[in-house]
Amino acid sequence: MTIIINPHQEIGSIDPKLHGQFIEFLGECIDEGLWVGEDSAIENEHGYRKATLDALRALKPPVIRWPGGCYADTYHWRDGIGPREHRATTFNENFATYELDDHAFGTDEFLRLCELIGAEPWININMLSGTVAEMKDWMEYCNREQPTDLARERAANGHEAPYGVKYWGIGNEVWAGGGTMTPSTYLDEYRRFASAMPSFTTDVFAPSPMYAIACGPDGNKPRERVKWTQDFFRGLAEYRQPRINGYDLHFYNWNVDNDADTPTEFDEAGWNKVIAGCLELEDILRDQWRLINDGLALINEPEVAMDTKLTHVDLIIGEWGNWHKPAFYARPALKQQVTMRDAITTALTLDLLQRNCDKVTMACNAQTINVLNSLILTEGDATILTPNYDVFMMYQQHRGAVALDVPRADADDKDVYVFASKSVDGSELLINLTNAHMSDEATVTLVLPAGARVEQMRELAAADPHDCNTVDQPDLVRAHDVDIDDHVVARASGESNSTSEITVRLSAA
Ligand code: AHR
Repeated sequence: MTIIINPHQEIGSIDPKLHGQFIEFLGECIDEGLWVGEDSAIENEHGYRKATLDALRALKPPVIRWPGGCYADTYHWRDGIGPREHRATTFNENFATYELDDHAFGTDEFLRLCELIGAEPWININMLSGTVAEMKDWMEYCNREQPTDLARERAANGHEAPYGVKYWGIGNEVWAGGGTMTPSTYLDEYRRFASAMPSFTTDVFAPSPMYAIACGPDGNKPRERVKWTQDFFRGLAEYRQPRINGYDLHFYNWNVDNDADTPTEFDEAGWNKVIAGCLELEDILRDQWRLINDGLALINEPEVAMDTKLTHVDLIIGEWGNWHKPAFYARPALKQQVTMRDAITTALTLDLLQRNCDKVTMACNAQTINVLNSLILTEGDATILTPNYDVFMMYQQHRGAVALDVPRADADDKDVYVFASKSVDGSELLINLTNAHMSDEATVTLVLPAGARVEQMRELAAADPHDCNTVDQPDLVRAHDVDIDDHVVARASGESNSTSEITVRLSAA
């Protein structure tokens, strides 16, 4: 098959935040996976597991969401600040974690992590069992520059300067564990919380740097029963608008129908189901983007005399990833292995997010360590980078680049997927070629612009699609450089179940 890469077919700029991550106190994501404490025999830097921290430093996730997820709905930020010996101990029942939380990893530990790895923090507040006052104090503690009691408390806890946390989520999955709310009950709650957010400006004419994120729908649930987005925005149009900057849809690629299918044991039908499942997100996010804009049109109807018009709300995918059935009863909670099947869906998900960069602004993989679609797995003192880690590393160069519209493969080659971007200065193309077939090879001819030179190619592939990285074989599935033809037309041979990254240098215009 032949695919033409035209550097002039621009879609838009890829927001680096499409490569975000999500961490939560569930299973061993934070405790053990990220945080082991200063006294641990496991090598650590100020309590952070050193191998995890180093992997995250190399990955540089642009944004990290915390503390949940469901856990956000029972999380009281004051439990996790100040001297550790005085912190609260609570019990976490979420997803049968059944662990004590000694709150050793709290707000300061999270925000320092973000500083250490260069990520923007996204804090999801507790809307279910918390209060408006609690949210307001949390924001004050993190961001107040003036020497208020809360700012002084932050300084006493070791951080004189405000952290400048911009992203604040209001509610998590409020249609389910976050309160089983209807769109209208949620909207009423949302209005109370959003309107109590401090602005952190001292200039009445300056826009607030705060960014409020509302809870969007459960992406892949039947939408005819509850028209979440339509009803939410219709309600919003009825009365003056609270602050709302982003709308957070969650999408899990559920693989729960076949008991014989596990994260590491599957047949071709199971392979195909999971690959097809991840691709559903593309239609969902396009539908949701249309619905958001239909809702904004209602708000902006000329006959509606609103004090404030609302012309834009960002679409965000706050949680995405594969969820295989055994994760429900796994110990530690929600821990699952990551094979090439997951790596392929991770690559295809990043492709579709980037291809829709004119619609989606921020997205977080669920979750970074030891939970669901992990990049990092830990076992005792061993830290293992999964094939998903390699995929995210291979895609790093797309951050901030210009996504290109690449024609889809024809029906005969439906398992081949190509995504391409162009660097901002126009000197480089980065092309991802994924052969999502479990066992068949594909030969793909990429037609590149005149004078283009293929500089580098890396490939992530496994001898067996069930392969994964374990304590005994930590590098069984690892990306590696591939020899390339220095030709204008690159002939790339896509191994089965593989994903490749091709860097192309363009000739000067
Ligand atoms: O990522 C695991 C859980 O999945 C989160 O806590 C919740 O938001 C979602 O249902």
